[in-house]
Amino acid sequence: MKNQHTFMGIALSACVFGMCAASTFAADETLRSLAEKNNIYIGAILNSQWFSGQLPSNYEQIHKTQFNIVVAENEMKFDATEPSEGRFNYGNGDKMVKYAQQNGMRVRGHALAWHSQVPGWVNNYRNDKQKLLKVLKNHIQNVVGHWKGKVAEWDVVNEAISNNEPMWRSQSVWYQGIGPDFIDSAFVWTHAVDPDAELCYNDYNLEQGISPKAKAGFLLEQVKRWVKNGIPIHCVGSQTHVEDTTTDKHFIGSPDSLRALAKELAKLNIKLKITELDIGFKSGINVSKKDLERQGKTFREYLDIVLEEPNADTYLIWGVSDKWSWLGGLNRQKGLIYDDNLKPKPAFDSILVRLQTFEPPQDTTKQDTTKTDTTKTDTTKQDTSIAIPQFSSMKALSMRISGRTLFISGANTAKVEVFDMQGRPVFNGKCETGALELKGISEGVYMVRIREHSTSLVQKIAIK
Ligand code: G3I
Repeated sequence: MKNQHTFMGIALSACVFGMCAASTFAADETLRSLAEKNNIYIGAILNSQWFSGQLPSNYEQIHKTQFNIVVAENEMKFDATEPSEGRFNYGNGDKMVKYAQQNGMRVRGHALAWHSQVPGWVNNYRNDKQKLLKVLKNHIQNVVGHWKGKVAEWDVVNEAISNNEPMWRSQSVWYQGIGPDFIDSAFVWTHAVDPDAELCYNDYNLEQGISPKAKAGFLLEQVKRWVKNGIPIHCVGSQTHVEDTTTDKHFIGSPDSLRALAKELAKLNIKLKITELDIGFKSGINVSKKDLERQGKTFREYLDIVLEEPNADTYLIWGVSDKWSWLGGLNRQKGLIYDDNLKPKPAFDSILVRLQTFEPPQDTTKQDTTKTDTTKTDTTKQDTSIAIPQFSSMKALSMRISGRTLFISGANTAKVEVFDMQGRPVFNGKCETGALELKGISEGVYMVRIREHSTSLVQKIAIK
């Protein structure tokens, strides 16, 4: 039934978007299989109802068939993982990690330092900077430590920028109690616990332009400062909760603006990830077939950024079905790619067709700019009262592949590890001359990690 729908959907969407050229489609192609061919991650949250077993079995079937990255809607947040001081609750998070492992999916952790969903006991320390620093550090050490090696990337800091002006959000227990130093500190502490995890700053409205007055413009200045100071940040997560353009006349966001942010981040060797995408319509309006097709086009335009920008690798949707979506609380509806009955919508078809028809430029491998470890100090032993340790500038470690030879610069002796796209190690060696032959690896796309002392770089390569 699913495949039948897929074929029909392809024919419809392809013509709607002016792409009626004949293509062949394998019957078993899914968003996941096509994303993997394109070397990107495609995902959806596991809704809170999944954790309590309230969802029909076809929800999970769809989820694991169509997606290769997962994040919990609420279950790894502060109030879920440390509901009372020093007492940690990992049950639901463990359940998701196990599900991800069983189904070969990457896990995102969301979120460590956020002003929302903070338990009441934390707020009691609002006026005690030293105590709050200890609370945040202890939370990070426990939570990140518990899932070390299992959670591949963390939203270390979420939504720290004000909505209205280019400045930090003042209504946050962390900001009020500690000051903006909590941000730098959170990255440093997380990295110290799991140096292999990718660390993101995550926020919304980042698709609204990069002028200094826009949120993304303010963020860019902070990212520049973090990189310069050696703060271990590897990615920016753009939540991308947007509204259909026809129902929100004042909305100023666009895929082009988000692409501009990706390009600026690339200059800093920082990735862009789309982490919480939904494209809703105002609640209460009738949504026509044409509206849903236009919605599909917008989903595709955001996907294009991830496919086309070398430093973008993740396309994650904040839900599976319109039936279980937080959007009602935002006075929006129907923002996801499956309808109330878990049937794929035109947006699903639009994404599928785009993944099917995308052809990367011939001679450019999609680069992976993750992740330059810029820290040189063991921050775990530092006094918690010192919020921002100063780091020396980053060392310019770089690599490129030519045929089967990996060329490395910026290191005298580098440890080289190669992994397949499922994360399995396929090569391990040392490079002492600036060049290393990657022997015994078949053609394909791989992740390479090079390390020298505490500096490391991870990049995607293609062996032809
Ligand atoms: O914890 C209570 C539970 O005890 C009670 O039984 C239940 C009954 O309604 O409510 C539970 O809390 C709710 C929680 O979700 C867990 O279901 C909260 O009331 C509700 O406000 C909360 O909403 C979540 C929201 O974050 C809170 O900020 C949404 O599910 C979740 O989708 C949403 O996710 C955020 C991202 O984390 C960050 N970016 C924006 C995104 C959408 O707001």
